[in-house]
Amino acid sequence: MKHFILKKLVKKIFINHGLSEKHSKICTEALINAELVGAPSHGLSRLKMYCDRINKKTINPKPTIKIKKISQSVTHIDANNSIGFVGADIAIKSAIDNAKKTGIGLVAVKNSGHYGLSGYYAEQAVKKNLMVLVFTNAPPAVAPHGALKSLFGTNPICFGTPTGSKVPFILDTSISMINRGKIRVAAREGKKIPEGVALDKFGKPTTDPKKALEGVQLPLAGFRGSGLAWMVDILSGVLTGGNHAGRVKDPFTDFSGPQNIGHLFFVLKPNLFVGNSFNKRIKDNIKTIKKLPKIKGIKEILYPGQNKFNRFKNNLKKEIKITKNVLEDLNSLIK
Ligand SMILES: NC(=O)c1ccc[n+]([C@@H]2O[C@H](COP(=O)([O-])OP(=O)(O)OC[C@H]3O[C@@H](n4cnc5c(N)ncnc54)[C@H](O)[C@@H]3O)[C@@H](O)[C@H]2O)c1
Repeated sequence: MKHFILKKLVKKIFINHGLSEKHSKICTEALINAELVGAPSHGLSRLKMYCDRINKKTINPKPTIKIKKISQSVTHIDANNSIGFVGADIAIKSAIDNAKKTGIGLVAVKNSGHYGLSGYYAEQAVKKNLMVLVFTNAPPAVAPHGALKSLFGTNPICFGTPTGSKVPFILDTSISMINRGKIRVAAREGKKIPEGVALDKFGKPTTDPKKALEGVQLPLAGFRGSGLAWMVDILSGVLTGGNHAGRVKDPFTDFSGPQNIGHLFFVLKPNLFVGNSFNKRIKDNIKTIKKLPKIKGIKEILYPGQNKFNRFKNNLKKEIKITKNVLEDLNSLIK
């Protein structure tokens, strides 16, 4: 289906579920962007979940969002359990404004929900020629190193910077071997997951996504990934006033209350220390790395974000593929 037709449909679904025109547009843009960058696990496959949470009153479709300015650079937002996209959209825009004025913009959000791809927000800052770090916590999926039980989310870490070219550097990675959305999509579509990414509930390695969802996901590089997940939980949960320490509810299965997720957005001017030479320096950095001798089978050393940028450009010209499950969701939600 053409992306602009899908946008109209999805926006109407959000409006029918009680969101304002403005908030529906924010959510629609974020979901369709996920499809266009090749991350369907964070796109339309989640639309029904967001609508279910609105119906069960665990997402507030008409939030009163409180924005508290702490200083010229620092802002604290209480998203009042809005759908995550809405709180995050206000936050990244505030962080960009603060950074433009003072060089640094730090914005914390509490009482939010799942906001999709961190890179979507990072790109907005990089488009304004700013550097950015984005953190969010997520429901338990990964066991802390040495623990028998999942507690950390797949807590993505995201860093973006202008590159002096039109292709931004956006490192946007879960701290788990693969993101949970990919496991959910595999479970829905009856596909296997790769080896070495999850254990079943008895602690045995599994390639069955349903068993993986009942068990634990493995962090990147053992205790190192576990440490990074912990750091993200502190920055986006403990620091912001959001839920932390495993208290974020699973958006698909736990409707006992709102998620109260926390996010942190840190935006800064790249010329703070080196003035106008930043552009020359970042270009030199990337060029030096790209010129390294390559291992067999590798045509080009890519920087994070390059693949996504190319996928987005190509996908804009194509139709968005709708799976049978997503089609069923769309048909049931539009009624
Ligand atoms: N909101 C949430 O709770 C939540 C939780 C987890 C993940 N996510 C999102 O899910 C998305 C996917 O996460 P993921 O861990 O599957 O990402 P991924 O494994 O697809 O990519 C991770 C990073 O590696 C880079 N990369 C990929 N191939 C590369 C290559 N050949 N050379 C150089 N760099 C390369 C990508 O550009 C990206 O920055 C992210 O956008 C993340 O924010 C969201």
